Amino acid sequence: MITAQNWTPDSWRTKPVKQLPQYLDAAQLADVETRLAKLPPLVFAGEARKLKKRLAAVGAGEAFLFQGGDCAESFAEFSANNIRDTFRMILQMAVVMTFGGGLPVVKVGRMGGQFAKPRSEDKETRDGVSLPSYRGDIINGFDFTEESRRVDPERMVKVYNQAASTLNLLRAFVQGGYADLHRVHQWNLGFVERSLQGERYRDLAGRIDETLGFMAACNITAETSAHIRETEFYTSHEALLLPYEQALTRIDSTTDDWYDVSAHMLWIGERTRQPDGAHVEFLRGVKNPIGLKCGPNMTPDDLLRLIDILNPLNEPGRLTLIARMGQEKIAASLPPLLRALKKAGRSEAVCSDPMHGNTHVSDSGYKTRSFSNILTEIRAFFDVCRAEGVYPGGVHLEMTGKEVTECIGGASAVTDAGLSERYETHCDPRLNATQALELAFLIADCVKKGRKPDSDFT
Ligand code: PEP
Ligand code: CO
Repeated sequence: MITAQNWTPDSWRTKPVKQLPQYLDAAQLADVETRLAKLPPLVFAGEARKLKKRLAAVGAGEAFLFQGGDCAESFAEFSANNIRDTFRMILQMAVVMTFGGGLPVVKVGRMGGQFAKPRSEDKETRDGVSLPSYRGDIINGFDFTEESRRVDPERMVKVYNQAASTLNLLRAFVQGGYADLHRVHQWNLGFVERSLQGERYRDLAGRIDETLGFMAACNITAETSAHIRETEFYTSHEALLLPYEQALTRIDSTTDDWYDVSAHMLWIGERTRQPDGAHVEFLRGVKNPIGLKCGPNMTPDDLLRLIDILNPLNEPGRLTLIARMGQEKIAASLPPLLRALKKAGRSEAVCSDPMHGNTHVSDSGYKTRSFSNILTEIRAFFDVCRAEGVYPGGVHLEMTGKEVTECIGGASAVTDAGLSERYETHCDPRLNATQALELAFLIADCVKKGRKPDSDFT
């Protein structure tokens, strides 16, 4: 076993920690942690290693990462239909990017554990009443009452159980025939089908059918090839609530290494990436592939210091950088980071989260994002990467398979006045299914242009 120096699953407890809720009953918290630590892993270490290999290909410019899902999963929205719709949306978007972009797409959901949310303010005030901020269903409740906002460690056990059911269904979808490429037409959701994007997708699905027919004639079918019959799908979330993550950190019996078995991939958020802080300390010691959000205030020195801690051996696939700059800042803030990476000869993949730097409050008072700002950041990301000679490795989106009205614009033409119709998110505004599919087509065009010139895929 090679454990990171001076690291133990609980060494984060000696470091300054941000965004951790105040659990009032220490004994109750300890009891929950002990119970969680005895529960079976949610993912296998071998799967996390396989994802690391896939992400190494992303870093090498041979694949594209698509990470997406809810901003925050919730207890209220937990249902088989919701899991299916998000999964189906990710499949549909990935097939658009694979076909249009001509590269393998690595699919990673913000699912099966994406519950804890960092907050800028500890308190929320409404009509003169001040209560603790909502921090995600794993910590407290969404309703604005004292009872609901009370921090309760038992919620961690409920999250574990919901994550286990979610993963169980996802595994069935992945291997049980749902993801078979022959079903590509059926991944079109009813309401999307009637839109312009739906038509474009139908056309693409028709071309995939034709290709499958040709391959069948060459004896490559769902029976002979798992690549047609099944897909690979991985889970991820922000490793924010460290007592939960620590309880699910185990030694893998095949390698003797430590893995956080709550998800395949974990990432460090923009607000908790202090090099001497608890979150960086925790993640430096687990062997999972990890992500690091990089905001507009990150300096090249900050970045180099963090990658020294998180990926000291420069292992391909270990660390994925997720730039979330904002469309106004990306052109100035990203190039210095990319230059520093290049100069240091680093292997990290660089991706774009065009969501978190582009949130604003609309005139009607909703927290929203505009489709055009999201697209502007994505395009700027591809342009900056190309100008700096760095491969644009992927996108990270907050989206849903439902027809919500949370982001403004796109072909579905959600307006500020229309936001109230189906504004359902517990946290940040998500792209709805039509907006997400439209964006997938636009991303596919960027991927095609951003491919390595010597790529085998033509
Ligand atoms: C998130 O991904 O939901 C998030 C809070 O992102 P960031 O840390 O980049 O703000
Ligand atoms: Co978010």
